[in-house]
Amino acid sequence: MDKNYLELIKKLETKKSLSTTEYEAIISYYQNANAKLQKEIRDYVSKKAVDAVKKVYGNAIFIRGLMEISNYCKNDCLYCGIRRSNKEVERYRLKKDDILSACEVGYDLGFRTFVLQGGEDPYYTDDILCDIIKSIKEKYKDVAITLSLGEKSKESFKKLRDAGADRYLLRHETADDNHYSLLHPESMLLSSRMESLNALKELGYQAGCGFMVGSPYQTATTIAKDLKFIEEFKPAMCGIGPFIPHHNTPFKNMPKGDTGLTCYLLSLIRLIIPNILLPATTALATLSGNGRIEGILSGANVIMPNLSPLSNRKNYEIYDNKAYQNDEAAESIELIKEQMKNIGYEIVIDRGDVKKI
Ligand code: 5AD
Repeated sequence: MDKNYLELIKKLETKKSLSTTEYEAIISYYQNANAKLQKEIRDYVSKKAVDAVKKVYGNAIFIRGLMEISNYCKNDCLYCGIRRSNKEVERYRLKKDDILSACEVGYDLGFRTFVLQGGEDPYYTDDILCDIIKSIKEKYKDVAITLSLGEKSKESFKKLRDAGADRYLLRHETADDNHYSLLHPESMLLSSRMESLNALKELGYQAGCGFMVGSPYQTATTIAKDLKFIEEFKPAMCGIGPFIPHHNTPFKNMPKGDTGLTCYLLSLIRLIIPNILLPATTALATLSGNGRIEGILSGANVIMPNLSPLSNRKNYEIYDNKAYQNDEAAESIELIKEQMKNIGYEIVIDRGDVKKI
């Protein structure tokens, strides 16, 4: 490996900060390398990332029970299979009782975080959501609730926080204005996404951002901006996974993202923020049979198996062939525990909050 490259990684490890140009250099160096060198680079950086995460969390892996509460969405993101314009989706909404039943199943399986994720669906008013959140929190005193329901006003975020929501995932998708406009309809702006993210932090949520790897028009420069944004925003969580085209979106013929690059970026993000909660995402597991494990071995420390009612899972198809069975299913927790044990990790029954360092 190149001497300048090694120096930049060393700097990242010690300072936890690089300039945007330096981030771009370490991304380009990887992207321009041949397959053999790419593997060497990944091995080198992932070892450092695993050392870093183990210093903070030991060999613990946190699990989250993911409930996809609605696949209705008022937005029309060009990459997403549940975009408003896709008329082929069978739409569904989970009612409070469905959600509470899923929590019951999840709690018994050992989940202590429930993630309520969904499209931007105006059906779920603040009042409806607050009622659901309060009911979960009343019944289960030792669980954390994560919401992932898109952009909202600061007032709405506050009501949900007051009702008991602990965390909020809102991927920024890209930190580059022009790139953002190529992925979204004109009505959506990076500035309002950032406003939401800032509001979440101010309200005391553990806030999560993130982006797709290999999304159309992404470049080493835009990824460098993503890393710089992550460094500066200091999210408690960050979700990244490869872009996977969906057959009924404008991006249906675009190439899918690369799992190697995704793993490399997981490791870099771990080095930037050693205590960050970093999931090995379903998208990674969808593209590579071994994706979950590769993610963990690159520095991820969270997995989010699907806890939605079985009949709904296939309809939450944000990209083609989305995995929702076997090791992506909450019921398969024993299988997941075994997989983690085999690589020296342990699934813990814990809320899995971000640890202060
Ligand atoms: N491929 C991969 N990830 C996708 N997402 C949406 N569509 C796709 C796709 N086609 C991601 C977005 C979104 C999250 C819920 O899923 O980053 O924020």
